Amino acid sequence: MPGDAVLPPETAREVIDPHAYAQWDDLLDTFDRLRAESPVAKVVAEDGELFDPFWLVTRYDDVMRISKDNTTFLNNPRPVVFSFRKAIEFSRAATGSDILVDSLVVFDAPIHPKYRRLTQDWFMPRNLARMEEEIRGIANATVDRLVAACAAGEIVDFCKLVSAPYPLHVVMQILGVPEEDEPRMLMLTQQMFGGQDADLSGSGMENMTQEQVIQLVAGAVKSFEDYFAGIAADRRAHPTDDVASVIANATVDGKSLPERDMAGYYIIVATAGHDTTSASTAGAMLALAQDPEQWARVKADRSLLPGIVEEAIRWTTPVQHFMRTAAEDVELGGQQVKKGDWLMINYVAANHDPAQFDNPRKFDASRSPNRHLAFGAGAHQCLGLHLARMEMKILFETLLDRIDSIELAGEPRRATSTFVGGLKTLPVRIQAR
Ligand code: HEM
Repeated sequence: MPGDAVLPPETAREVIDPHAYAQWDDLLDTFDRLRAESPVAKVVAEDGELFDPFWLVTRYDDVMRISKDNTTFLNNPRPVVFSFRKAIEFSRAATGSDILVDSLVVFDAPIHPKYRRLTQDWFMPRNLARMEEEIRGIANATVDRLVAACAAGEIVDFCKLVSAPYPLHVVMQILGVPEEDEPRMLMLTQQMFGGQDADLSGSGMENMTQEQVIQLVAGAVKSFEDYFAGIAADRRAHPTDDVASVIANATVDGKSLPERDMAGYYIIVATAGHDTTSASTAGAMLALAQDPEQWARVKADRSLLPGIVEEAIRWTTPVQHFMRTAAEDVELGGQQVKKGDWLMINYVAANHDPAQFDNPRKFDASRSPNRHLAFGAGAHQCLGLHLARMEMKILFETLLDRIDSIELAGEPRRATSTFVGGLKTLPVRIQAR
């Protein structure tokens, strides 16, 4: 039997390098090559030490198969996000497990469905409809700030003024976090996820050793845990109809959630809910700024908006990968995956697979069907997908109502991150009414 397909060192370096994810077109070229030549290939650290080997999966059909088969491909015991060996060792020493935060996304059946059911209804469109006016208010206040900042025709950063603060404010509202604590929540999230981008984490991480980075991430997790313990205590004493109260008062098999799991639940909602939606929102704005005719068309015909939102989510693919652990030996893309092997399902590669999407690099709001994998699939499919779509739709309705034209006014820059990625700056000039 032939040996495993192993990526050449320069390609292996690229797919785990956060900076490579800021060079989008080059990265897509690499994924095009891998999909054609080595759709399931082993990524091995050159020194054998830096990280554990894993299988990189780049074809849409394979990513879909893995996502939907939650029995063969598990969300633990190996981390669900690519991590260097030192980070895993740190987690093991600190928590006794390879996983630093016990959140919804790291559980498998039978616990996962029980935990997921606790908030599933809350995140369904019927319940979210209650929040529409509140979200519209947040969108309006955000667009007020944008319009004021652009009053004299200045160039503004759409990310800083709109796409970053808006979803953050929405998710913090549903978690009952007061507005004055939002900057801290944003910083902690960016340290935890985007920690790889020095501008976003504001921590000077470029100059830190790997140990210092690990300490920073662990510090962010601890700060989150302490903060949400306070919120949970408050919601047990004074329940409201927000999701923070649902989590605080939830019981599974007749018992409240263990402290660590409750903290993990808050952390996943707090962190999964904003950087992701920020990235797809900024991407939608980039696509519209690059195509004034599309802006004019959707201004005249709002029925085009859902297509734009959906395509922006595919085109940007904010969550760039998740990892799985094989529960048994399995054949995949001509390779023999062994029980216990670690796999990276790469959503960026899958969502740019020409076998599924014609001309995948093109922003095409008329794609139909647009069965992208940006929200994943299967048991772990994004819990917040209806909220994300609703937030984007409401924001763009508000923008379309109040802004006549929008123009790209500089080079947008992408974050350096292997996990949650997207634009970190988007200079624009707008004409408001
Ligand atoms: C899971 C993407 C917005 C909460 C996920 C997954 C992806 C994803 C890829 C993993 C799916 C899988 O393993 O199959 C996105 C994108 C978003 C977004 C692209 C925005 C455009 C949100 C929002 C929230 C949220 C707004 C909540 C406020 C969650 C949670 C999970 C999750 C709790 C874990 C679900 C589970 O493991 O059962 N998301 N997400 N996400 N997302 Fe999102």
